Amino acid sequence: MPRTIELPKPDDFHLHLRDGPMLEAVLPYTVERFARALVMPNLVPPVVTTADAIAYRARILEALPPGAPFEPLMTLYLTDTTDLDDLADGHSRGVVIAAKLYPAHATTNAAHGVGDIRRVAAVLERMQRLDMVLCIHGEVTRSEVDIFDREAVFVDEVLIPLRRDFPELRIVLEHITSAHAAAFVEAADARLAATVTPQHLLLDRNAMLVGGIRPHLYCLPVLKARADREALRRLVATGTPKVFLGTDSAPHPRHAKESACGCAGVFSAPLALEAYAQAFDEIGCLGHLTDFAANHGRRFYRLPPNEGTLTLHEEAWEPPELIPVGGDSEGVRPFFAGERVRWRLG
Ligand code: DOR
Ligand code: ZN
Repeated sequence: MPRTIELPKPDDFHLHLRDGPMLEAVLPYTVERFARALVMPNLVPPVVTTADAIAYRARILEALPPGAPFEPLMTLYLTDTTDLDDLADGHSRGVVIAAKLYPAHATTNAAHGVGDIRRVAAVLERMQRLDMVLCIHGEVTRSEVDIFDREAVFVDEVLIPLRRDFPELRIVLEHITSAHAAAFVEAADARLAATVTPQHLLLDRNAMLVGGIRPHLYCLPVLKARADREALRRLVATGTPKVFLGTDSAPHPRHAKESACGCAGVFSAPLALEAYAQAFDEIGCLGHLTDFAANHGRRFYRLPPNEGTLTLHEEAWEPPELIPVGGDSEGVRPFFAGERVRWRLG
């Protein structure tokens, strides 16, 4: 008998929606699966002020399929010149749910990020007082640090001192990928949480690099070794409330991925929940999927439960090879394109 899972409508606590025709093309896939999503601010130029967030939120609502219930949860991109009062104002008005720390040049559109965390100490102090969540892209960017070690070095060099200096600050270490980060999260108190992507639960770096390079699996932080994936799986299998769903679905036009210098990002929105179900099934902890997808994150962000439910069926299907974007014939290629996903929505 094929199995079925019914769960409350979940939330995606880490999502790149972009803007313009890309936003219009990708948003319906998230809306089908999630009631709310924490929208990343790394546009060009980035979302740095409350006014930017209000305007971006309006563009997202405008791009929604008619009648679709969906709540974008907005974030601000921290810079060396973030305006403290504006941040506090956005938070108190409920417009801005969290602020995102990108170490400068760590990833796509992170050029405006923070060069030295000491420069944003006043912002962190204020966020701690406001009880506003800080989301972190946890990788150092120094050229001498190997790309596979950048998350672990960030934990040791930046995150441990940060937590010591701001013990009350609530932090989400985004998209964890390494055994080192998994151990850190497991040992931390309840003010630290983490998201984990479907690709990091399902794959290791061999999937990207053995038998030919697969640019559509390149994301940041990059896929790690099998032992790291196993550590992430063990963490999720504990059912800890400190870990929850954040896809990091990050669409790029196909030419930007299939390039001599391809962009980082896996576009998982068209099958995101299904891919998590597949991962949890492989791990043997499907019973934890509901809390991971629909409860742990919203509780950390202190949001109410969503109305409505979704059903997943155990039934193989193939996501499309390409999703068209505006008038562009090229489009964007989803995770699992041309392969079979073992769980299906609806
Ligand atoms: O792979 C990634 N893509 N990682 C990030 O941190 C950013 C994202 C993007 O915006 O494309
Ligand atoms: Zn991201």
